[in-house]
Amino acid sequence: MRTKLVAGNWKMNGGLAQNKALLEGVMAGVAGFNGMQAAVCVPFPYLAQAQQALAGSKVAWGAQNLSQHDKGAYTGEVAASMLLDFGCRYVIVGHSERRSLYGESDELVAAKYEAAQKAGLTPILCVGETLEEREGNITEQVVGRQLDAVIARSGVASLAKAVVAYEPVWAIGTGKTATPEQAQAVHAFIRGKIASLDKGVADGLVIQYGGSMKASNAAELLSQPDIDGGLIGGASLVVEDFVAICQAAQR
Ligand code: 13P
Repeated sequence: MRTKLVAGNWKMNGGLAQNKALLEGVMAGVAGFNGMQAAVCVPFPYLAQAQQALAGSKVAWGAQNLSQHDKGAYTGEVAASMLLDFGCRYVIVGHSERRSLYGESDELVAAKYEAAQKAGLTPILCVGETLEEREGNITEQVVGRQLDAVIARSGVASLAKAVVAYEPVWAIGTGKTATPEQAQAVHAFIRGKIASLDKGVADGLVIQYGGSMKASNAAELLSQPDIDGGLIGGASLVVEDFVAICQAAQR
């Protein structure tokens, strides 16, 4: 049985005072929840704040990006070991905003995924198609290619220590959610593709949905057989909304 994972991706939002209320609110809100895991992926400068606020609670924390390199002359970059220093469990890799706005290729994403795992972090690998790609009926081709890059570099067994997030680009921040059927179809494709290589890994793999998931649509999305949680943008910035999604993820 897979445990559902609901992770907030704060993106480039927040500030010390706001974060305090949000972290405390989420921590209190999920304290009594069972059979689900909650996490927040915060901007780098606030990792120490998240660690201080959340240590010993049910809420895990992580980052939104990392360098593929261990250390050295890479101005402005952050290494996996630094994330570990601040108690991170998770790190998002290959978010569509990194792919499209910062030119991250499938190969670079695969290198970051490997760097995260080598350090003992759990990568949350984001995959997903653009609207143009969906309309061109190449969703499976695109998602398959994004997965293949990681499998080629780290092997299918590496997915036993990773999370995959299916995030259709056209549903991110647009208020346009994939229907539960649309999302389930791609989740089943992802699990089936991995099952063809290793059934055990596929059965255990947590596959989150991301893209305008909110309190009002979470329960239906999360009731799909292959949807094992959510990667939440906008709704993760509002305590009540994020907690409501976590509530819907309980077993
Ligand atoms: P929204 O929930 O704001 O659509 O963002 C989804 C996302 O990109 C999470 O990584």
